[in-house]
Amino acid sequence: MSSVTVHAPAKINMALRVGGARPDGYHPLTTVFCALDLADEIVVAPAEGLSLTITGNDLAVDDNNLALRAARALQDRTGMDYGATITIDKKIPVAGGMGGGSADAAGTLVALNELWELGLSHADLHGLAAGLGSDVPFGLVGGLALGTSRGENLLPISPRAFQSWVLVTDSDGLSTPDVFRHYDLLHPEPHEPADVDDLVEALGSDSVAEVAGLLVNDLAEPAFTIRPDLRELFERLEGAGIATVLSGSGPTIGILCESDTAADALAGALRQEGLSTLRTDGPAAGAHVVRSS
Ligand code: C5P
Repeated sequence: MSSVTVHAPAKINMALRVGGARPDGYHPLTTVFCALDLADEIVVAPAEGLSLTITGNDLAVDDNNLALRAARALQDRTGMDYGATITIDKKIPVAGGMGGGSADAAGTLVALNELWELGLSHADLHGLAAGLGSDVPFGLVGGLALGTSRGENLLPISPRAFQSWVLVTDSDGLSTPDVFRHYDLLHPEPHEPADVDDLVEALGSDSVAEVAGLLVNDLAEPAFTIRPDLRELFERLEGAGIATVLSGSGPTIGILCESDTAADALAGALRQEGLSTLRTDGPAAGAHVVRSS
């Protein structure tokens, strides 16, 4: 095989409920993930050793990059020392709360499993993914899913309604550990994450409007504490569509719209106001091969 191309989707957390920190420092979560058709493109080709090139963003590549760690995890798991060039064309905002790094790790697992003809099963890849990061397993599975534990335990939700989103992005990224640290300061008492049963039930409806009022993110308050300007922007965008939610640890704000035409119009209007917007739809497939030769 001379190359494999994979698309790796961004995610938005339609609900993200957080519990008190566990002894290992992670927080128990109850979350509803939705994969979006906004995706990074990953191309892998055989080579001596491993190398990574990123295009579409001036993100510095270091040895700790999750895609490289994913490649090394595959080598360790299989005992193979095949090499590869990995090229990632970034479309997902970096440090935006959209799971971009996790998507790249999931995409690299899928791409190299194919290129190196390893034949690892979904369960094998899921195990490796969970070791790489809390959001990486969802990057493999995609669609719509309920996530528990650190976010790596997934229960698929059958998607009924098509979702049209406008994302308002911010070039000033937020650090996820930093936002969780602020969450702990605001909520020092031990507690379990709230449930998201109402949202899961509403997602079983044919109408996307049923989810209005049910999108929630417990990391919004700590993110707004770090970035008060983000709270102002969020409040301005509330009511712009069916529902507005901060994704993950922010700063990307997702606005769910009634239809794709409503979303196109909103994205255009917000762009005219000088905001940076992306139009995307969900739910989308998890990391998958789009070409191999
Ligand atoms: O799992 P991952 O490496 O992506 O997590 C990045 C950071 O986010 C962790 O180091 C931790 O600070 C925080 N985190 C958390 N609880 C989770 C997921 C992430 O505290 N369930």
